[in-house]
Amino acid sequence: MDQERLLRELSEFLRIPSVSTLPAHNQDCRAAAEWVAAELRRLGCHDVAFLGSETHPVVWGKGPDVPGAPTLLIYGHYDVQPPDPLAEWTTPPFEPTQRDGKLYARGSADDKGQVFCLLKAIDPQNPRVNFRFLIEGEEEYGSKVLFDLLKREPQRVRADAVVVADMSYVAPGWPAVYTTLRGLCYAEITVRTSKTDLHSGEYGGAAPNAHEELARLLTRLKGADGKINIPGLYAAVKRPPKAELAAWKKLPFNEKDFLNKRVQGKGLVGLKKYSVLERLWALPTFEIHGILGGFTGEGAKTVIPAAATAKVSMRLVPNQKLATVERQLAAAVKRLAPKHVTASVRFLHGADPAQIKVDNPAFKLLDEAFKRVTGRGTVPARAGGSIPVVPALASAGAPVILTGIGLPDDRLHAPNEKLDLKQLWDGIEVFRTFYGLLGAQRRM
Ligand code: BES
Ligand code: MN
Ligand code: MN
Repeated sequence: MDQERLLRELSEFLRIPSVSTLPAHNQDCRAAAEWVAAELRRLGCHDVAFLGSETHPVVWGKGPDVPGAPTLLIYGHYDVQPPDPLAEWTTPPFEPTQRDGKLYARGSADDKGQVFCLLKAIDPQNPRVNFRFLIEGEEEYGSKVLFDLLKREPQRVRADAVVVADMSYVAPGWPAVYTTLRGLCYAEITVRTSKTDLHSGEYGGAAPNAHEELARLLTRLKGADGKINIPGLYAAVKRPPKAELAAWKKLPFNEKDFLNKRVQGKGLVGLKKYSVLERLWALPTFEIHGILGGFTGEGAKTVIPAAATAKVSMRLVPNQKLATVERQLAAAVKRLAPKHVTASVRFLHGADPAQIKVDNPAFKLLDEAFKRVTGRGTVPARAGGSIPVVPALASAGAPVILTGIGLPDDRLHAPNEKLDLKQLWDGIEVFRTFYGLLGAQRRM
């Protein structure tokens, strides 16, 4: 492997600030899509196209072809999350930098570095399987374009297997395949208490305060014990089977290490009667991402804010439905808001949870590939994160292999995101081996 050339090429990809949620970066998203398309052409795809319209293109590719061999669909995303807070990055997010065997950049692990592995593992001279590609640019923003596309053209996901490398090992040295993804319900909750802001001396003590009302509403929606007080929410939540809970106890996961090394905080929260893994993987959440409104500038201003908005999201677990949870959240906000405020909910995007059976023979082949390259096969695990389009990728019946070559401490969405170079080189070898094993099968 020409590691220097590969690092140069990956760095080129990582230098493009393809932040899908910020309109100022639309051209950059386009440039990242062009980078992927050029790569697909180089690999010998004979049908490279930008699909979808208006927003960031979905890069489609077909080929190289190997008559009689199985067909593998590769899914990934070229968009990234916003890099802020910028001041916390040791080196700038879009200037990929190597330190101590790690490559630091936004997107290094989520997901450009992993897409890079999947692509560089293909030998255009000896491709082994028939390839199809769907590399999108809106995953971090809900994947609406790709959803709409797959509704119109479901045949795009016809394949013998689908591979998604957008997650991580469960621990260093422990590759995984994931049996569930949580869903997501992203919303803005707005509270209004008066027509305009008011002088806090003239009105304070008698006029309602939007921030105070919002704070109270939010803490009613989720109590200090971690329980979400949305009527009906937990009705659809099923506990994982006993055997699965027992298997989690054997995973290299330690609650103390999780607190001290990963969270790096003073204590964990949530429903205390469930294990931390169950809280992360099998229970719904309610998180506040940010609160807008009122006076946040420098200095002091005495004002009673008339409106306040919280950006919140809920993670959903298998058997929950996005549409139901949206209704439940809207109803709970109406019910919990006092009469003297106007409360409204605006839904931004969301995704149903996904559940994947890992009994298709293709999973054995990936397990074998990891074993050969890293010395250990894949353990089944669940994921706390979401990939909105996964249920749609599974809709034509192909097994969707959810895996990844990152590590749990890669700091996805946070400052100083990184990818260990050892994971990158192993990752390329693993997928190369996987393609070889899959190609040795006749059509599946
Ligand atoms: N790669 C992540 C999903 C992920 C992270 C899966 C960690 C498993 C473990 C993906 O890029 C992501 O961040 N998805 C968003 C989706 C949302 C914006 C619709 C997420 O989970 O917040
Ligand atoms: Mn991702
Ligand atoms: Mn992400």
